[in-house]
Amino acid sequence: MKQRLFVLLLLGAVVFACSKTETPSNTSEVYSPTPYNVAIPSWVSTFLSPMPTNPSNPLTVEGISLGRKLFYEPMLSDNQTQSCASCHLQTAGFTDTAAFSKGTNGAIGDRNAMQIINLAWSNYLFWDGRRTTLEAQAHDPVTNPIEMRNTWPVVVERLQKDPIYPGLFFKAFGTRTIDSNLVTKAIAQFERTLVSFNSRFDKYYFEGDTNALNAQEKRGLALFFGKADCNHCHSDVLLTDDALRNNGLDTRFTDRGRGKVTGLPTDDGKFKVPTLRNIAETAPYMHDSRFKTLEEVVNHYSDDVKTNSPNLDENMEIIAKGLRLSQQEKSDLVAFMKSLSDTEFLTNPNFKKPE
Ligand code: HEC
Ligand code: HEC
Repeated sequence: MKQRLFVLLLLGAVVFACSKTETPSNTSEVYSPTPYNVAIPSWVSTFLSPMPTNPSNPLTVEGISLGRKLFYEPMLSDNQTQSCASCHLQTAGFTDTAAFSKGTNGAIGDRNAMQIINLAWSNYLFWDGRRTTLEAQAHDPVTNPIEMRNTWPVVVERLQKDPIYPGLFFKAFGTRTIDSNLVTKAIAQFERTLVSFNSRFDKYYFEGDTNALNAQEKRGLALFFGKADCNHCHSDVLLTDDALRNNGLDTRFTDRGRGKVTGLPTDDGKFKVPTLRNIAETAPYMHDSRFKTLEEVVNHYSDDVKTNSPNLDENMEIIAKGLRLSQQEKSDLVAFMKSLSDTEFLTNPNFKKPE
């Protein structure tokens, strides 16, 4: 009897709540987005500034959820076969396992798809840093002639006609009228939640769990921060200094990199220093995917740096003298890089394709 009364009361409350939210235009929607804070381990704040936010695009539960749906949405591409996630797979650290990603008509690009990890802290997006915000970046793949090959009016029309999307845009942004800026805002919100600080390296180095790394990985760590001087550029908590630099791959550049953006010959051969977080999952390596394995990458830094490469970065000074690592040291360094994988990030259900 008591139970039935409770159910009745509950029903009453629901009916009351619904009738209260009814508006004259006969829609039951209310725009009240829920502010969202990305959970970040507390030790991170000792080494890193708080996550930068975009004042014109604050994170909300509704915005992130919409952005996640859009990130996995094939309607964004011309023939509706490709989403952002086609080239940015969660299990591969949000990059592509192919050397060069295929666009919707099978055309192939000339750069390796990049990781989407901790990019809230990044001010340079793409290998050449040509975009400075995640919102601006997300505009590009949709209209790129060798990626999604679409136009924004077509995307907007499709989403607008969809039975579900207009309601989701209302919940996230207070309007049912969709435009490209709102689409990219939502995607950028989702991308800002893609934070990874939970590798075995983090547990050992920052959280003081001395058993989190084995002896070989500890030797590799010592090399990384010491003799091999890797953290000169792959630095701090993010394992990147978010700068554009030439790490001595070539003497002549088929891809000018940063130089193509600024037009300055002194920027030729400079590319974004990528994070090494989850690096074991993101092969192949470098902007042009020239290395298939981490062993090949280490061979480059140890033995093959082109010391006469124009604009060779000054942080390469120690490495350019010739590291000449032993086989054992090379394996140690590779073992260390494999400890940078964050299984929780790579399998986090909140980042998967929504049901
Ligand atoms: C056809 C494959 C493909 C698709 C589809 C694609 N990307 Fe990418 N993405 C790439 C490639 C390749 C690069 C590097 C391009 C360059 O540097 O010129 C990249 C770079 C990026 C970066 C820069 C990361 C960094 O560290 O600077 C972000 C962010 C990104 N993509 C997000 C997206 C989003 C959001 C979408 C969907 C709207 C998307 N991508 C669709 C292949 C793709
Ligand atoms: C001068 C700065 C600098 C130093 C020092 C440096 N790197 Fe790099 N690293 C870069 C840049 C820049 C790239 C991207 C270059 C490109 O694609 O053209 C890169 C790319 C990489 C990649 C491939 C990442 C990817 O996503 O494809 C790995 C792995 C790597 N470095 C490991 C190391 C190791 C190990 C060391 C120490 C032996 C080291 N780096 C030292 C600047 C540096």
